[in-house]
Amino acid sequence: MLDKNEALEERHNDKKTVGTTNSFFGENVAQMYNSTSWNRYPKLFKECTDRLPKNGIIMSFGCSIGYEGFSQFLYKGAEKATVVGVDINPENIADAKALQEKYYPDIGDRILFTTSLEVAMTGRRFDLIYANSVLCRWKMTKDMENISHIYPFDEFEKMLRILAESLKVGGFLVVYNGNYRLTDTSLSKYFEPLVHVVEKHFVHQYDPQGNRVADGEKNYPAIFKKIREL
Ligand SMILES: C[S@@+](CC[C@H](N)C(=O)[O-])C[C@H]1O[C@@H](n2cnc3c(N)ncnc32)[C@H](O)[C@@H]1O
Repeated sequence: MLDKNEALEERHNDKKTVGTTNSFFGENVAQMYNSTSWNRYPKLFKECTDRLPKNGIIMSFGCSIGYEGFSQFLYKGAEKATVVGVDINPENIADAKALQEKYYPDIGDRILFTTSLEVAMTGRRFDLIYANSVLCRWKMTKDMENISHIYPFDEFEKMLRILAESLKVGGFLVVYNGNYRLTDTSLSKYFEPLVHVVEKHFVHQYDPQGNRVADGEKNYPAIFKKIREL
Protein backbone atom coordinates (compact mmCIF):
# COMPACT_ATOMS: atom_id res chain seq x y z
CA MET A 1 0.00 0.00 0.00
CA LEU A 2 2.81 2.41 0.84
CA ASP A 3 4.15 2.59 -2.70
CA LYS A 4 0.72 3.66 -3.97
CA ASN A 5 0.46 6.35 -1.32
CA GLU A 6 3.85 7.68 -2.23
CA ALA A 7 2.85 7.78 -5.88
CA LEU A 8 -0.28 9.75 -5.06
CA GLU A 9 1.63 12.14 -2.88
CA GLU A 10 3.95 12.85 -5.75
CA ARG A 11 1.02 13.58 -8.01
CA HIS A 12 -0.41 15.95 -5.44
CA ASN A 13 2.83 17.88 -5.36
CA ASP A 14 2.49 18.33 -9.09
CA LYS A 15 -1.12 19.35 -9.08
CA LYS A 16 -2.44 21.07 -6.01
CA THR A 17 -5.23 23.07 -7.55
CA VAL A 18 -7.17 21.26 -10.18
CA GLY A 19 -9.30 23.89 -11.81
CA THR A 20 -12.63 25.45 -11.05
CA THR A 21 -16.07 23.90 -10.93
CA ASN A 22 -18.15 25.71 -13.52
CA SER A 23 -21.18 27.72 -12.57
CA PHE A 24 -23.26 25.73 -15.09
CA PHE A 25 -23.72 23.14 -12.36
CA GLY A 26 -26.33 25.55 -11.13
CA GLU A 27 -27.69 26.49 -7.78
CA ASN A 28 -26.53 23.34 -5.98
CA VAL A 29 -22.90 24.14 -6.28
CA ALA A 30 -21.26 25.20 -3.04
CA GLN A 31 -17.50 25.64 -3.08
CA MET A 32 -16.42 26.27 -6.66
CA TYR A 33 -12.72 25.59 -6.28
CA ASN A 34 -11.37 22.08 -6.50
CA SER A 35 -8.22 22.49 -4.45
CA THR A 36 -7.32 19.42 -2.50
CA SER A 37 -4.27 17.61 -1.31
CA TRP A 38 -3.10 14.27 -0.11
CA ASN A 39 -3.89 13.49 3.54
CA ARG A 40 -4.95 17.10 3.96
CA TYR A 41 -6.43 17.02 7.48
CA PRO A 42 -4.52 14.35 9.43
CA LYS A 43 -5.81 15.40 12.85
CA LEU A 44 -9.44 15.25 11.75
CA PHE A 45 -8.95 12.00 9.85
CA LYS A 46 -7.35 10.30 12.84
CA GLU A 47 -9.98 11.48 15.33
CA CYS A 48 -12.76 10.26 13.04
CA THR A 49 -11.35 6.96 11.84
CA ASP A 50 -10.42 6.01 15.42
CA ARG A 51 -14.17 6.09 16.09
CA LEU A 52 -15.26 4.11 13.05
CA PRO A 53 -16.82 0.68 13.49
CA LYS A 54 -15.14 -2.19 11.67
CA ASN A 55 -16.10 -2.10 7.98
CA GLY A 56 -17.40 1.45 8.41
CA ILE A 57 -18.85 3.47 5.53
CA ILE A 58 -17.41 6.91 4.83
CA MET A 59 -18.62 9.65 2.51
CA SER A 60 -16.27 12.28 1.20
CA PHE A 61 -18.71 14.98 0.14
CA GLY A 62 -17.08 17.39 -2.30
CA CYS A 63 -14.31 14.86 -2.86
CA SER A 64 -12.63 16.68 -5.76
CA ILE A 65 -10.26 14.18 -7.43
CA GLY A 66 -10.50 11.71 -4.56
CA TYR A 67 -7.50 12.36 -2.32
CA GLU A 68 -9.62 12.71 0.79
CA GLY A 69 -11.14 9.31 0.10
CA PHE A 70 -7.86 7.56 -0.70
CA SER A 71 -6.21 9.09 2.36
CA GLN A 72 -8.65 7.31 4.66
CA PHE A 73 -6.91 4.01 4.01
CA LEU A 74 -3.78 5.38 5.70
CA TYR A 75 -5.59 5.16 9.03
CA LYS A 76 -5.85 1.98 11.02
CA GLY A 77 -9.52 2.49 11.85
CA ALA A 78 -10.40 2.77 8.15
CA GLU A 79 -8.32 -0.02 6.66
CA LYS A 80 -11.42 -2.07 5.94
CA ALA A 81 -13.75 0.85 5.32
CA THR A 82 -15.86 1.55 2.26
CA VAL A 83 -15.44 5.05 0.85
CA VAL A 84 -17.95 6.89 -1.32
CA GLY A 85 -16.73 10.11 -2.91
CA VAL A 86 -19.28 12.58 -4.27
CA ASP A 87 -18.47 15.60 -6.35
CA ILE A 88 -20.71 17.75 -8.47
CA ASN A 89 -18.00 18.19 -11.10
CA PRO A 90 -17.84 15.21 -13.51
CA GLU A 91 -14.26 16.01 -14.47
CA ASN A 92 -13.18 15.53 -10.86
CA ILE A 93 -15.02 12.23 -10.66
CA ALA A 94 -13.42 11.02 -13.90
CA ASP A 95 -9.98 11.86 -12.45
CA ALA A 96 -10.80 10.14 -9.16
CA LYS A 97 -11.92 6.99 -10.99
CA ALA A 98 -8.74 6.96 -13.08
CA LEU A 99 -6.60 7.27 -9.93
CA GLN A 100 -8.53 4.47 -8.28
CA GLU A 101 -8.01 2.16 -11.23
CA LYS A 102 -4.33 2.95 -11.31
CA TYR A 103 -3.45 2.92 -7.62
CA TYR A 104 -6.23 0.95 -5.92
CA PRO A 105 -7.43 -1.67 -8.44
CA ASP A 106 -7.67 -4.28 -5.67
CA ILE A 107 -10.29 -2.41 -3.63
CA GLY A 108 -12.64 -1.42 -6.43
CA ASP A 109 -15.55 -2.96 -4.51
CA ARG A 110 -14.87 -0.70 -1.50
CA ILE A 111 -14.51 2.63 -3.22
CA LEU A 112 -17.04 4.44 -5.36
CA PHE A 113 -16.97 7.85 -6.97
CA THR A 114 -20.09 9.54 -8.27
CA THR A 115 -21.50 12.93 -9.20
CA SER A 116 -24.86 11.93 -7.74
CA LEU A 117 -25.71 12.25 -4.07
CA GLU A 118 -28.75 10.11 -4.78
CA VAL A 119 -26.57 7.27 -6.09
CA ALA A 120 -24.25 7.64 -3.11
CA MET A 121 -27.11 7.41 -0.65
CA THR A 122 -29.18 4.68 -2.25
CA GLY A 123 -29.10 1.60 -0.06
CA ARG A 124 -26.56 2.97 2.38
CA ARG A 125 -26.25 5.03 5.50
CA PHE A 126 -22.92 6.37 6.59
CA ASP A 127 -20.82 6.08 9.73
CA LEU A 128 -18.81 9.15 8.83
CA ILE A 129 -19.39 12.03 6.42
CA TYR A 130 -16.77 14.61 5.63
CA ALA A 131 -17.92 17.99 4.32
CA ASN A 132 -14.50 19.59 4.29
CA SER A 133 -13.88 22.87 2.48
CA VAL A 134 -17.08 22.42 0.50
CA LEU A 135 -19.98 24.16 2.28
CA CYS A 136 -18.51 27.56 1.60
CA ARG A 137 -17.59 29.99 -1.16
CA TRP A 138 -13.93 30.61 -0.75
CA LYS A 139 -12.05 32.82 -1.56
CA MET A 140 -14.97 34.72 -2.99
CA THR A 141 -16.15 35.52 0.54
CA LYS A 142 -12.73 36.37 1.95
CA ASP A 143 -12.95 39.42 4.21
CA MET A 144 -16.59 40.11 3.26
CA GLU A 145 -18.79 41.44 6.05
CA ASN A 146 -22.02 39.92 4.67
CA ILE A 147 -22.28 36.92 2.33
CA SER A 148 -26.04 36.32 2.23
CA HIS A 149 -26.25 37.35 -1.45
CA ILE A 150 -23.39 35.02 -2.44
CA TYR A 151 -23.98 31.97 -0.30
CA PRO A 152 -27.20 32.14 1.73
CA PHE A 153 -27.47 30.29 5.04
CA ASP A 154 -30.49 28.34 3.69
CA GLU A 155 -28.33 26.66 1.06
CA PHE A 156 -25.88 25.56 3.72
CA GLU A 157 -28.62 24.24 5.98
CA LYS A 158 -30.46 22.44 3.15
CA MET A 159 -27.35 20.55 2.10
CA LEU A 160 -26.37 19.77 5.66
CA ARG A 161 -29.82 18.30 6.29
CA ILE A 162 -29.49 15.92 3.34
CA LEU A 163 -26.13 14.77 4.64
CA ALA A 164 -27.37 14.50 8.22
CA GLU A 165 -30.29 12.31 7.17
CA SER A 166 -28.01 9.80 5.51
CA LEU A 167 -25.83 9.46 8.60
CA LYS A 168 -26.39 6.64 11.11
CA VAL A 169 -27.20 7.56 14.67
CA GLY A 170 -23.83 7.39 16.43
CA GLY A 171 -22.08 8.42 13.22
CA PHE A 172 -19.98 11.56 12.71
CA LEU A 173 -20.48 14.57 10.49
CA VAL A 174 -17.45 16.74 9.88
CA VAL A 175 -17.95 20.32 8.78
CA TYR A 176 -14.55 21.86 8.43
CA ASN A 177 -14.11 25.17 6.64
CA GLY A 178 -17.80 25.88 6.16
CA ASN A 179 -18.98 29.48 5.87
CA TYR A 180 -21.64 28.74 8.51
CA ARG A 181 -21.88 26.67 11.68
CA LEU A 182 -23.86 23.51 12.21
CA THR A 183 -24.73 24.74 15.71
CA ASP A 184 -26.65 27.66 14.17
CA THR A 185 -28.89 25.36 12.13
CA SER A 186 -32.08 23.54 13.10
CA LEU A 187 -30.01 20.32 12.98
CA SER A 188 -28.05 21.28 16.05
CA LYS A 189 -30.33 19.36 18.42
CA TYR A 190 -29.52 16.09 16.65
CA PHE A 191 -25.78 16.48 17.12
CA GLU A 192 -23.18 16.73 19.82
CA PRO A 193 -19.85 18.42 19.02
CA LEU A 194 -16.65 16.67 19.99
CA VAL A 195 -15.53 19.69 21.93
CA HIS A 196 -12.07 18.39 22.66
CA VAL A 197 -11.29 18.56 18.92
CA VAL A 198 -11.33 22.17 17.86
CA GLU A 199 -10.08 23.35 14.52
CA LYS A 200 -8.77 26.62 13.31
CA HIS A 201 -10.93 27.03 10.22
CA PHE A 202 -9.33 29.25 7.63
CA VAL A 203 -12.62 29.95 5.82
CA HIS A 204 -14.42 32.88 7.41
CA GLN A 205 -17.58 32.08 9.37
CA TYR A 206 -20.92 33.91 9.34
CA ASP A 207 -24.14 33.97 11.34
CA PRO A 208 -27.49 32.90 9.77
CA GLN A 209 -28.07 36.46 8.51
CA GLY A 210 -24.81 36.22 6.64
CA ASN A 211 -22.91 38.62 8.91
CA ARG A 212 -19.34 37.79 9.70
CA VAL A 213 -18.72 36.40 13.17
CA ALA A 214 -15.86 38.15 14.91
CA ASP A 215 -12.95 35.72 15.05
CA GLY A 216 -15.47 33.00 14.30
CA GLU A 217 -13.12 30.75 12.41
CA LYS A 218 -10.83 30.26 15.37
CA ASN A 219 -10.98 27.18 17.58
CA TYR A 220 -14.42 25.95 16.71
CA PRO A 221 -15.49 22.27 16.67
CA ALA A 222 -15.56 20.51 13.32
CA ILE A 223 -16.67 16.99 14.32
CA PHE A 224 -20.28 16.35 15.34
CA LYS A 225 -21.77 13.08 16.57
CA LYS A 226 -25.33 12.30 15.55
CA ILE A 227 -27.20 11.50 18.75
CA ARG A 228 -30.75 10.91 17.48
CA GLU A 229 -32.76 10.38 14.31
CA LEU A 230 -33.90 13.51 12.46
C1 LIG B 1 -12.11 22.81 -2.26
S1 LIG B 1 -12.70 21.27 -2.85
C2 LIG B 1 -12.56 20.30 -1.38
C3 LIG B 1 -11.99 18.92 -1.64
C4 LIG B 1 -11.77 18.09 -0.40
N1 LIG B 1 -12.99 17.91 0.34
C5 LIG B 1 -10.72 18.70 0.46
O1 LIG B 1 -11.05 19.32 1.48
O2 LIG B 1 -9.55 18.61 0.10
C6 LIG B 1 -14.48 21.54 -3.01
C7 LIG B 1 -15.15 20.53 -3.91
O3 LIG B 1 -16.55 20.54 -3.65
C8 LIG B 1 -17.24 20.28 -4.87
N2 LIG B 1 -18.65 20.70 -4.72
C9 LIG B 1 -19.15 21.96 -4.66
N3 LIG B 1 -20.49 21.92 -4.47
C10 LIG B 1 -20.84 20.62 -4.42
C11 LIG B 1 -22.09 19.94 -4.26
N4 LIG B 1 -23.24 20.59 -4.11
N5 LIG B 1 -22.09 18.60 -4.26
C12 LIG B 1 -20.93 17.91 -4.40
N6 LIG B 1 -19.71 18.49 -4.58
C13 LIG B 1 -19.67 19.83 -4.57
C14 LIG B 1 -16.43 21.04 -5.92
O4 LIG B 1 -16.65 20.55 -7.21
C15 LIG B 1 -15.00 20.82 -5.40
O5 LIG B 1 -14.39 19.71 -6.02
